[in-house]
Amino acid sequence: MRKILVIGIGAGNPEHMTVQAINALNRADVLLIPTKGAEKAFLADARRDICDRFLSNDACRILDYAVPVRRADGSYEDGVHDWHHAIAAIYERTLANEVGEDQTLGLLVWGDPMLYDSTLRIVEHVRAAGRVAFEMEVIPGITSVQALCAGHGIALNRIGLPVEITTGRRLSEGWPEGARDALVMLDGVQAFRTVEDPEAEIWWGAYLGTPHEILLSGRLSEMAETIAETRRTAREEHGWIMDTYLIRRPASESEEGAA
Ligand SMILES: C[S@@+](CC[C@H](N)C(=O)[O-])C[C@H]1O[C@@H](n2cnc3c(N)ncnc32)[C@H](O)[C@@H]1O
Repeated sequence: MRKILVIGIGAGNPEHMTVQAINALNRADVLLIPTKGAEKAFLADARRDICDRFLSNDACRILDYAVPVRRADGSYEDGVHDWHHAIAAIYERTLANEVGEDQTLGLLVWGDPMLYDSTLRIVEHVRAAGRVAFEMEVIPGITSVQALCAGHGIALNRIGLPVEITTGRRLSEGWPEGARDALVMLDGVQAFRTVEDPEAEIWWGAYLGTPHEILLSGRLSEMAETIAETRRTAREEHGWIMDTYLIRRPASESEEGAA
């Protein structure tokens, strides 16, 4: 039976690779790496560095593929649907044509595959098509959320309180109902500027785990412009940016007491 190994590679520092992930990398007969097209050069380089550093299986073949470009016309959902199916077709072709019946295909996923990543959904599309039989194994990785909390030396949650994990796009439409703490990813619109709570605090991180890592924290009302300016300058300097942040609003005594 063919196998797909979905390997979490961490969020930017090659040393995020766990022993389990390194062993999985070396179990793959073929590694399929997005290195062209819409994939940012930095992410492609990071994956290549990981292979240079940790791949000792000389028989393993590394195959590059160009990430299809997501259609911008039509609805967001249709665009994502077509995009996922285009990537599924690449996975399926690779399995059928490049991976032997008892061989393993490795997919390297940024951070952890369970967090704002569609690789597992795309693999399910390949399975649903039913043309190539395979089993799948997932290897967890260090997420950008963990890298953010470690960078600031903070716990993600307050004692006994929940945390809403959301996107910048959603936060820009309003603070998540019922939430006190929100962890925000995929923010292309600097949605933290829309939170109007003089008591709110922010812990922000960009390029986490990389040599360019930037960490800023403090009262949101005092930090918002500094973060926006730092973000703009860093993006100009590097040509790209990935950032994540936690915003905490005061909880009532009874909420905190519930802990
Ligand atoms: C498509 S999601 C992938 C998340 C990934 N699966 C994880 O486990 O962290 C991309 C978003 O993750 C966050 N992110 C990933 N790596 C990051 C890093 N090194 N520094 C800051 N944010 C990062 C950013 O919010 C970015 O927009």
